[in-house]
Amino acid sequence: MPLTAIVLAAGEGTRMKSRHPKVMHKLLDRPLVGWTVDCARRAGCSRIIVVVGHGAQEVRDYLSTFDDVEFVEQPQQLGTGHAVRCVFDTLFADAPVNTINDRFVVLYGDSPLMRPQTISWLTDKSTARNDACTILTMTPPSPTGYGRIVFEGGQVKAIIEHKDCTPAQQEELRECNSGMYCFEGSSLAQGIAQLSNNNAQGEYYLTDMIAWLNKHGSNVSAVHCEEYTELLGVNSRVQLASASKIMQQRINQQHMENGVTMLDPTSVWIGPEVTIGQDTEILPNTLLFGHTSVGTNCVLGPSTRLTNATVGNNCTVDETIIVDSSIDNNVSCGPRAYLRGGTHFKDGAKAGTHVELKNTVVGEGSKVPHLSYLGDTTMGSGVNIGGGSITCNYDGVHKNKTTIGNNAFVGSDTMMVAPVTIGEGAVTGASSCIYEDVPAGALGIERSRQVIKEGFATARQQRLEKGNK
Ligand code: UD1
Ligand code: MG
Repeated sequence: MPLTAIVLAAGEGTRMKSRHPKVMHKLLDRPLVGWTVDCARRAGCSRIIVVVGHGAQEVRDYLSTFDDVEFVEQPQQLGTGHAVRCVFDTLFADAPVNTINDRFVVLYGDSPLMRPQTISWLTDKSTARNDACTILTMTPPSPTGYGRIVFEGGQVKAIIEHKDCTPAQQEELRECNSGMYCFEGSSLAQGIAQLSNNNAQGEYYLTDMIAWLNKHGSNVSAVHCEEYTELLGVNSRVQLASASKIMQQRINQQHMENGVTMLDPTSVWIGPEVTIGQDTEILPNTLLFGHTSVGTNCVLGPSTRLTNATVGNNCTVDETIIVDSSIDNNVSCGPRAYLRGGTHFKDGAKAGTHVELKNTVVGEGSKVPHLSYLGDTTMGSGVNIGGGSITCNYDGVHKNKTTIGNNAFVGSDTMMVAPVTIGEGAVTGASSCIYEDVPAGALGIERSRQVIKEGFATARQQRLEKGNK
């Protein structure tokens, strides 16, 4: 049966104290609402509808890259029931209710720890039991603030919001509403239009659907999620940090189970889209974010950040930053290298200490060992770049290219004023400013002759010691 997800994401999140809507705050490197949408997608939802309100444009802009997401605007946040009602008023207004045959799962845009298998479990149970609504429930250590489930036999009779509970109910009813449900479409469509806002908060409560369904003789049951942390919402930055920690542990554990070693998993942060091969070791203070993939048998860290990086097998990446760049097999980087903007190191190449490379191809076995900047450069194989060498690639307007042929030897402190080519097997003299092409096999040297003044230094020292200038 087709499954539609309704993701409630219109709330402001006052406690975040932020100019951004709550659901745009990031857990690891992904905004909260992205986690929910991804989870819905993995659970097999064929339609994902996100209800936006506060900061709607920012949420829409971010989710515009997810081409399977639809948006519904909730102009005023009049409650969870109202949010769902906006979906039916906007997208299903012309559909007779008995033609709405999908099952709907209601999810929150601020609950990033939910697992896809939990949604599947909820919807499978709901379908098997032929429920009009199945509620995902939990028993958190402190139930304060949550709606409480009222059972009668196996049937859920009502959900009473914390604020609407009597003190006795607050004490006795421990099983709580997670806020996530699976509804049968036509029942939801009919009931949602009937909700009122006659309650402690003057809101349209989605939870009132339960009493409405009972009144109309429909089945309503609950499934209890043993791991309540999976259903935690994020309402403040402190809760965001706690949720991030839980996700960090979950992700790191998965990688360790797959054969990755971590000296201190508490200091390793890995995003959800990262893949890592077996026998790779990750040292402390390392962040792997974005679409990053790492091969087998590598050592990453300490103090390393990879964002949208591709790393081959048998690489060493020590105190290094790699952004939007790739290294092939047997490449060594660092300590303190910075590779960015489409840089590509081929097999066996090396980036050493305090080197920066932008949009540069480094051929097989080529080395950039010390204190260099190379930008917009294409380098062949077997090249050695002497320490302190720099491409002057930017003239203030254009980024110009440098080409370095196979087996060239660039002397230390060479300035390569681009556009310029250093031919195959060519050599540049140390400290040269190379502003014209150096042909293959030639030497390019640009420096003044050295002068020797015999005894000058000794005489100067003596002068200084006598107090003469
Ligand atoms: C809701 C449930 C409560 C449950 C709790 C679990 C209701 C009436 N109560 O309470 O039973 O225990 O979640 O966390 O549903 N939202 C909108 N538009 C609105 C109002 C809310 O999009 O007009 C979104 C919020 O952004 C949030 C979610 O819906 O993501 C839940 O809203 P919130 O106000 O936090 O509901 P609770 O009072 O926590
Ligand atoms: Mg809440």
